[in-house]
Amino acid sequence: MKRLLLLLCAACCLAACGKAPAEAVPDLIPRPASLQPGSGCFRLPATLELACADSTWLPAAEFLRRSLPDGVTVEAACGAKAPFTVVRSEGLDTIGGYRLSVTRRGIRLEAGSYGGVIAGMATLRQLLRSDGTIPAVEIEDAPRFAWRGFMLDVARHFFTKEEVMALLDRLAQYKFNKFHWHLTDDQGWRIEIKRYPELTARGAWRDPSTHNHDIRCSELARELRDASYRLPEQNLRRDEEGRLLYGGYYTQEDIREVVAYAASLGIDVIPELDMPGHSLRAVACYPELSCTGRAEWGKTFSTPLCLGNDATLDFCKGVYEEVFDLFPYAYVHLGADEVEKRNWEHCPKCQQRIAREGLTDEKGLQAWFVREMEHFFNEHGRHLVGWDEITDGGLSPTAVVQWWRSWLPQTLDEALANGNSVVLSPVEFSYLSAQNSRSLAKVYGFEPLAGIPEEEASRVLGVYANLWTEFVPTFERACFHIFPRLFALSEIAWCGSGQDEFESFRSRVNSHLKRFDEEGWNFRVPDPDGLCDRNEFVDSARVELRMPFEGLTVRYTTDGSMPDSASTRYEGPFTLREECTLRMRVFTAAGNAGEVMTARYVHHPLREAEEVSGALADGLTATWYDYRGTDCAGIDAAPLKGRYEVTDVRIPEGVSGNIGLLFEGWLDIPEDGIYSFYTYTDDGSVVKVDGETVVDNDGAHSRIERSGQAALRKGLHRLEIRYFDSNGGILEAGLIDSAGVRRPFAAGMLKHRRDA
Ligand code: ACM
Ligand code: ZN
Repeated sequence: MKRLLLLLCAACCLAACGKAPAEAVPDLIPRPASLQPGSGCFRLPATLELACADSTWLPAAEFLRRSLPDGVTVEAACGAKAPFTVVRSEGLDTIGGYRLSVTRRGIRLEAGSYGGVIAGMATLRQLLRSDGTIPAVEIEDAPRFAWRGFMLDVARHFFTKEEVMALLDRLAQYKFNKFHWHLTDDQGWRIEIKRYPELTARGAWRDPSTHNHDIRCSELARELRDASYRLPEQNLRRDEEGRLLYGGYYTQEDIREVVAYAASLGIDVIPELDMPGHSLRAVACYPELSCTGRAEWGKTFSTPLCLGNDATLDFCKGVYEEVFDLFPYAYVHLGADEVEKRNWEHCPKCQQRIAREGLTDEKGLQAWFVREMEHFFNEHGRHLVGWDEITDGGLSPTAVVQWWRSWLPQTLDEALANGNSVVLSPVEFSYLSAQNSRSLAKVYGFEPLAGIPEEEASRVLGVYANLWTEFVPTFERACFHIFPRLFALSEIAWCGSGQDEFESFRSRVNSHLKRFDEEGWNFRVPDPDGLCDRNEFVDSARVELRMPFEGLTVRYTTDGSMPDSASTRYEGPFTLREECTLRMRVFTAAGNAGEVMTARYVHHPLREAEEVSGALADGLTATWYDYRGTDCAGIDAAPLKGRYEVTDVRIPEGVSGNIGLLFEGWLDIPEDGIYSFYTYTDDGSVVKVDGETVVDNDGAHSRIERSGQAALRKGLHRLEIRYFDSNGGILEAGLIDSAGVRRPFAAGMLKHRRDA
């Protein structure tokens, strides 16, 4: 017994820095390839001495220092002996692989490249606990993809260099190593070009009172009582006549500073100055660059550059020459997306170019421009990257294609078949603009190599997250869009999300969000669950929320007004007896506000069941119509394409293209009660029960969930579900159970008449 006590004491002493070290390892994102918890922990001294084998790696110490508690400093020097050693290991890859060993005595980080050192430091930053200790661990880790990218559009709305640098720090923290800087577009030119000063003197500024993005943002600020939609003071100025202007740009000095900072984080900066489309600001400043001398909008996109004009080519090359000087990296992005090629059809100069170069048409002219620019890039020792439109009309196999058009998978297939390397940022997963309560799970489901032949997979360089900022005027708003979905993309790019269940990932996300909150970062606060968009009650309704994690406050109103930090606080489940519109909003401990959730509560008696004579079969009938409209009402007026008997509510096999679907039958309700229905669709859908709309998810839109309740008596109730889509949509429909779990309708609940 005495011996046992002694052993126990020894174990307690060994674990003096945490009773159960294996459990005390903070959640890591992305998940490392292998992690062995050790016993005990390393306690940070007031001065952490770091010995680095390679002097060029010393800047990584600063990345670590920024996350240390106040009062702790890092003294980094070249050498071999210190409590924290960073050593080169030739056996590790050069794209981010590292080995990290933390014991009670010290820290040892091995890497094969500077990127590996930063990745190891990023892990260390996440391992650091609030009490200044780091749990003992052995980690061996390496990335799945060499390119782990993030694109920020600073043209639609401008972000200061300080904001960009703050974001870069977070990108490194989540092991991103490419920053794609979208510097010019129709709405703003953000980089100083000394040869063309008008680009920033005029092209960086606009009148916000007439600009549609700014007008919408100020409407949203008002409607949602959300200051993060207001144009920041720092990006406003008055011109000589006193008119208010919005904008901003980076001087070449600013650019050098950001590039140097990114380099210290192991991040390559890939600049994009979008050409020959998305060039309205350039054309407005230098009208001779366009075919017509006017800067305007065409049928779909804006006035492009005139490619028949040699002076335009000189402009493009002159601009990029200055860009090459500022960005020392091998890859530079030409853009080349969404070009209004019709302008070239009517331009004698462009037509002359097409004839002289023996090109087939305007598509060929765009391809000629890309080839011409690629040649120029190559002469300057750079590789060209372009959006996937560069595959149109013939492409050199040395350009890197950034695939974004999810609805055109053939462009990706063609690029790979052509021998090109590609990076993936499909709208479906990588675009961070729109989001809803399902978006995190959706992004986490992204498998970049799905459908890509094994022999071509090595040419998938990596994965990006893209933030376009039309309706993102502030850094706070940007963070709302970026986090937490960036965590999902970090994991997809680093280790692949397929090895972890979403629920387990979500729990790691929540612990990172808590840290974000403490550190004053904004993010999309996860929604509580428990409300449908439309709720029914017979006598009274019980409002009960399931919270994503503790420490959140919910505030609400019942008069339809926007809840703010002074509205009534949700203290726990409560009862509603009157019809009302309930609006709720979550606030974090630091005051970050979530999305406003709106739930309508209506009184409704239980609907009587229907007497149906004759035998019914399981499932529903589904009718497919060749439908191209934008709402569900007109579906069955379109030409008939096919009829099916189905056992669930999904797009039947073989149904594609213009889809209008009408599902019909009965729902066999097991007992009297309030039932919650949902649809999750792209585009629209409507669920009717006994002829009344229960879920209204109508209209042309991307993936959205809508839900609604119906008070139903036991027995059969007529069910009708309408759905439409025109480019590869999604259809999920079913019931939400009392725990909030969405389930497709059980096969036995669906009934139809065979001969219907
Ligand atoms: C893009 O979203 N236009 C690349
Ligand atoms: Zn032209």
